[in-house]
Amino acid sequence: MTRVAVFPGSFDPMTNAHLDVARRASGLFDRLIIGVLDNPKKAPLFGIDERTALIARSVADLGSHVSVDAFDGLTVEFARRHGAGFIVRGLRAVSDFEAELQMALTNRKLAPEVDTTFLMTALEYGYVSSSLTKEVARFGGDITAMVPPPVAEALAERLGAGPRV
Ligand code: PNS
Repeated sequence: MTRVAVFPGSFDPMTNAHLDVARRASGLFDRLIIGVLDNPKKAPLFGIDERTALIARSVADLGSHVSVDAFDGLTVEFARRHGAGFIVRGLRAVSDFEAELQMALTNRKLAPEVDTTFLMTALEYGYVSSSLTKEVARFGGDITAMVPPPVAEALAERLGAGPRV
């Protein structure tokens, strides 16, 4: 039996917390598709193609069973299109739980054949979020511990941020 999972998110941009979850999931599933939500209602810092390319560069060492794909619409439809039986989400802290539970139960109602699996983010990345990373970068702070190198470069280019030495 081939176990296929999708790992959906906004990934604006991918952080080390996301990467940690992708790495753990890549060891658990035969195929892992990282799904980048193209949400026209949000105005992301990075466009959908940029976010997808940054993830592809960041997960290149995880193996050929890990891929990246943009999607719009429902996550469960994205999972079905890829023949995935699992949705992967990361939990950093208790504060993530309530929203994640609501999403998981909604997704189960929509697609009972798709199960959500939660992976605990490594403690060292428990504080990392895309939005705070952007804020720190915007004010010139060092975000190199928070994001993969390709993302740090892209943030530096976009926001003029860079490590303080
Ligand atoms: O990185 P994020 O912003 O926490 O990811 C949230 C995401 C993309 C997983 C969620 O917003 C989502 O699944 N959106 C797609 C639309 C959908 O399926 N909505 C119903 C799920 S409750």
